Amino acid sequence: MSGLAVRFRELWDEIAPIGRDAHSGGYLRYALTAPELRLREWFRAQADLRGMPVSGDGNGNLFAWWGEPPTGGPNTGDPDTGGPAGAGAVLTGSHFDSVPHGGAYDGPLGIVSALLAVDELRAAGVTPVRPVVVAAFVEEEGARFGVPCLGSRLLTGEIDADRAAGLRDAAGVSFAEALGHRPAGADPALLGRFAAFVELHVEQGRALVDADAPVAVASAIWPHGRWRFELRGEGNHAGTTRMADRRDPMLTFAFTVLAANKEARLRDAHATVGRVAVEPNATNAIPSTVTGWLDARAAAPETLDGLVEAVRAKAAERARRDGTELTVTRESATPLVTFDGGLADRLAGLLAAPVLPTGAGHDAGVLAAHLPTAMLFVRNPTGVSHSPAESATDADCAAGVVALARVLEELACH
Ligand code: GLV
Ligand code: MN
Ligand code: MN
Repeated sequence: MSGLAVRFRELWDEIAPIGRDAHSGGYLRYALTAPELRLREWFRAQADLRGMPVSGDGNGNLFAWWGEPPTGGPNTGDPDTGGPAGAGAVLTGSHFDSVPHGGAYDGPLGIVSALLAVDELRAAGVTPVRPVVVAAFVEEEGARFGVPCLGSRLLTGEIDADRAAGLRDAAGVSFAEALGHRPAGADPALLGRFAAFVELHVEQGRALVDADAPVAVASAIWPHGRWRFELRGEGNHAGTTRMADRRDPMLTFAFTVLAANKEARLRDAHATVGRVAVEPNATNAIPSTVTGWLDARAAAPETLDGLVEAVRAKAAERARRDGTELTVTRESATPLVTFDGGLADRLAGLLAAPVLPTGAGHDAGVLAAHLPTAMLFVRNPTGVSHSPAESATDADCAAGVVALARVLEELACH
């Protein structure tokens, strides 16, 4: 193993146990819960070790600065510190939070790799002429408060601070309560200090296995979103209610899931119902309400619109036949992201890496509308993600660090 792969493993092992579920082997690192707060403390400690002051943006996002430090004192992470003085900074990093029982790499790999890339550049005697900033974004997965990329949406003003403040988790805790204050919202001054953002991420498919390459550059993110399908019927006794008398929302739900799958296949798109809530959720009761969340994604916006409309229409028609009521609410939407083509080509040339699109969402997709943004993907041997089976070899992770260090040198050191 190379020295860098060993250093990667050492740093990786420091966070590996945090939030890992003993039974599934997956991670429960929901935003602003104890495991994620521990990871944030670890991030501050690592920044401290490297003499990188940490600032916050009042939205839950953290920024560790190599170069001109933030004004207002180091390591406060306080919304009132006024943010950094440095301009033209190069931003990198990713997120710590996970989906329920998610993999180890989705998110944390981008933060650990960024810290190691700073170490590599320093060891090589490279000094940036512009600050290099490592970010830890909050609630990227939307697993706790429902809206993905919540931290980057707040920073960029893509979501209203009041709406974000009022988002609630399954226990009824609001985002503002979890954060300890109302989120500060858009910060154009801070955003204006960043000249570029480069997020390194584990690949969430098998394109790099097929390409026989450890690292790729992203070209685009498919448009995608989340829709809540709420189906209301009549709760009743499972043993005594005649089949003909039932208004069972589970039937409408089951049909809707099959329709989503069919409509997605017809369009070469993706549709998933991965979350469902049933009331009263009793074996011997016909449900009164079934709520399912549709995650839909497609290469083109019009394909996505057509897919969601077709599923909604089929669910509505089935609800009419079942005597149930349907309400569809869009909870989040991410438009097609085409990463800065010039930057992607430049980085692909620098790294001799393939360029590929992805169906997965990222904070980079949100920031891309506001500043030149690129992504690097690190090979995932199984392609599996959002699962405990997600993986990457230490050697490929080391290759990712080398690639990110080269990119940061290219963007911040000349
Ligand atoms: C984030 O990982 C997403 O694509 O849902
Ligand atoms: Mn993810
Ligand atoms: Mn991610």
